[in-house]
Amino acid sequence: MKDLRVGMMGYGFMGRAHSNAYKRLTDFFPVQHKPILKAVCGRNADKARQFASNWGYERVETDWRKLVDAPDIDLIDIGTPNDTHHEIALAAARNGKMVCCEKPLAMNVREAEEMARAVEDAGVPNMVWFNYRRVPSIALAKQVIDEGRIGRPFHYRATYLQDWTIAADVPQGGAGLWRLDVDVAGSGVTGDLLAHSIDTAMWLNGPITRLVAKTETFVKERIHAVTGKVQPVGIDDACMFLAEFENGSMGTFESTRYARGRKNYNTFELNGADGSVFFDLEEPEYLQFFEYKQQQSGKKVEGHLTGWRKIHVTNSEHPYMNRYWVPGTCIGYEHTFLNALADFVMGIEAGKPAQPDFREALKTQRVCDAVLESARTNQWIRTGL
Ligand SMILES: NC(=O)c1ccc[n+]([C@@H]2O[C@H](COP(=O)([O-])OP(=O)(O)OC[C@H]3O[C@@H](n4cnc5c(N)ncnc54)[C@H](O)[C@@H]3O)[C@@H](O)[C@H]2O)c1
Repeated sequence: MKDLRVGMMGYGFMGRAHSNAYKRLTDFFPVQHKPILKAVCGRNADKARQFASNWGYERVETDWRKLVDAPDIDLIDIGTPNDTHHEIALAAARNGKMVCCEKPLAMNVREAEEMARAVEDAGVPNMVWFNYRRVPSIALAKQVIDEGRIGRPFHYRATYLQDWTIAADVPQGGAGLWRLDVDVAGSGVTGDLLAHSIDTAMWLNGPITRLVAKTETFVKERIHAVTGKVQPVGIDDACMFLAEFENGSMGTFESTRYARGRKNYNTFELNGADGSVFFDLEEPEYLQFFEYKQQQSGKKVEGHLTGWRKIHVTNSEHPYMNRYWVPGTCIGYEHTFLNALADFVMGIEAGKPAQPDFREALKTQRVCDAVLESARTNQWIRTGL
């Protein structure tokens, strides 16, 4: 067993999700690297210390530069807000560290290109935490599509809906609400939520080549938590776009933080000539599959038993599930990060880099930038993919 010495940037939501993955990796996956929780970095020293003692990190830093310079760190994990990804990743790559970065990879394509180039020039393993690829049901959808069971694809339909920013008195900016501050987040739902939908869509259905988008900011001004002043809101509260895929299918994408009752409603459906798949993150252990014609007595027929199947994705034949419990027992949100980490580490060990790496995640960044440009200019935009 080799040590994999981790420097975790950020002790927030993702700091917790990733730390859990590092701690459980060798319990569930047959890897030859054991993560060692060396140091966590956050801006508030007391909170960082509390986090370190809770999760078992050896020390804390409050300046990310100290962590990327530390000789006893092999892997820098970026779980900080979006405006910090670029600078930290460049410095980490320059120092020869492996880099795992949260999504969206960057604030824009220019930053993302530099980041992809930096990790490639340094020759360091890298990954972006698009963890939804590691939901077993979504990985099963990928398998079903790759097996040719959907046939020629016609429609891709994605939604990612939440409802937590409807109140006009929710401030923007600061520790808890940086997602509402465009200078820190880069965009609103486009980079935060649709980046996930776009990554999943292109993984399942290939490149998005052209799109047209409309965004809306429903609450135009909010108090800024840091300055205390009422300031214009620069993020998109909602975004919808139409897309053309390279394979000839068409797609719709919808995201908002104003869908009352929807907490993390991340769904997609792909309709093809021979079948369809549907997934809903609020029922993550199920993949729904419609097969137009099924094998009966050696022939493919559409008959009285044709219909949607709701597959409980918990069998050992299903992606990732042979690592966990017995059929019929579920895994959770946190396991998507554990599965992603396992793929990353096993990829290093096998010499086959896990996806999405920075180069692959740059494609999603291109689509996000094209969405924002289209919304700004009211025009169809080519993504360059
Ligand atoms: N993969 C996913 O599903 C998923 C889910 C949530 C968030 N994210 C992404 O993860 C990143 C972090 O989001 P979060 O929800 O964990 O945020 P958070 O607000 O919960 O935590 C952010 C952390 O970053 C630290 N931080 C901020 N600026 C810093 C700086 N300059 N130097 C050092 N530390 C700094 C804060 O102290 C805090 O610990 C974002 O890029 C976000 O888009 C991804």
